[in-house]
Amino acid sequence: MYSSARFETRTVHAGQTVDPATGAIVTPIYQTATYVHDAIGVHKGFDYSRTANPTRSALERCLAALEGGAHCLAFASGMAATDTVVRLLRPGDHTLIGDDVYGGTYRLFKSEWERYGLTFSVVNMADLTAIEAALEPTTRLIWLETPTNPLLGLADIAAVVQLAHRHGILVCVDNTFATPYAQRPLELGADIVIHSTTKYLSGHNDVVGGAIIVRDASLHERFAFLQNSVGAVPGPFDCWLTLRGLKTLALRMQAHSTNALAIARHLEGHPAIARVRYPGLPSHPQHELARRQMAVFGGMLDVELRGGETAARHLCEHTRLFALAESLGAVESLIELPAAMTHASVAGTALAISPSLVRLSVGIEHMADLIADLDQALAQLL
Ligand SMILES: Cc1ncc(COP(=O)(O)O)c(C=O)c1O
Repeated sequence: MYSSARFETRTVHAGQTVDPATGAIVTPIYQTATYVHDAIGVHKGFDYSRTANPTRSALERCLAALEGGAHCLAFASGMAATDTVVRLLRPGDHTLIGDDVYGGTYRLFKSEWERYGLTFSVVNMADLTAIEAALEPTTRLIWLETPTNPLLGLADIAAVVQLAHRHGILVCVDNTFATPYAQRPLELGADIVIHSTTKYLSGHNDVVGGAIIVRDASLHERFAFLQNSVGAVPGPFDCWLTLRGLKTLALRMQAHSTNALAIARHLEGHPAIARVRYPGLPSHPQHELARRQMAVFGGMLDVELRGGETAARHLCEHTRLFALAESLGAVESLIELPAAMTHASVAGTALAISPSLVRLSVGIEHMADLIADLDQALAQLL
């Protein structure tokens, strides 16, 4: 009913109906493992909660509507969703991944799936010529993050999809940083979208989850089989928390983006900062692509400190409002050192991150308080 409504309306209503038993406006938490059958083989659409659960189904319908997909499968984490996509492949298949992706994604691909005969290589996804040159006869999948974690590089989704489809290759976009409020890769031709719903989609640092969204019915059938067979499913309460968070996604993304742009502009002129990376700044090398591809520029930004690693560690440990913590995308502002925290697992690889780079996840607190917090921590470095 709401799948063709505007985005903000879909965040509040899509996939959710007034509970027919009670009139409850909010989808209930169906905290049940199993369902009573009317007769053998006769039930109301649910037989066991690993296979399907009404709270999870409401979340899946809502996420499919937000990404412009036809189907969604929810998972216990973003990594469980990622792992499920890789299970489409067969031994000998090759996947091309960006040269800057979440460290846990790279770790799963290289440390685990290579043991089962899959191969992976990295390439700069901003460079179409380099992508074409890196294709192998066995390439089946291109794995895109845009913006990337943590360097905030962009890929032109429509252009990469066009190139991939010419070669019969599937494109999966990890849309965690942008969210469907900022960009909808399926509408640009991508085959699969995955999310860590732990981040902006749930938005409150209170749940870990993941999702896969597709248009194609046969991909959906395969992923539904894997979701049920492997069983890395989220519990009903986690689905309910995510649904609740989604209702304010549009408002939150606006606030995150407004705050992040103000902070990026402020820090760009700061004497302790060597470089600010934020897609919304004209100094970002792909700012024009960001303007074309993204409705807002998001809440993530990076700074490189003039004082190198020592200064970066100092900044991380001396903010008061920005909490020193992994994860991102929630209402609370967070700060971290990727080289030692979220991306420690890629040290010594092609994806290694400079130890003088600090990643900020800008929350929805008042921007003046956030700027004052960063200023007081940076003042000690001057
Ligand atoms: C871009 C991106 N994708 C996937 C993941 C993995 O998600 P999860 O932590 O929910 O398993 C993360 C986690 O930080 C991430 O940043």
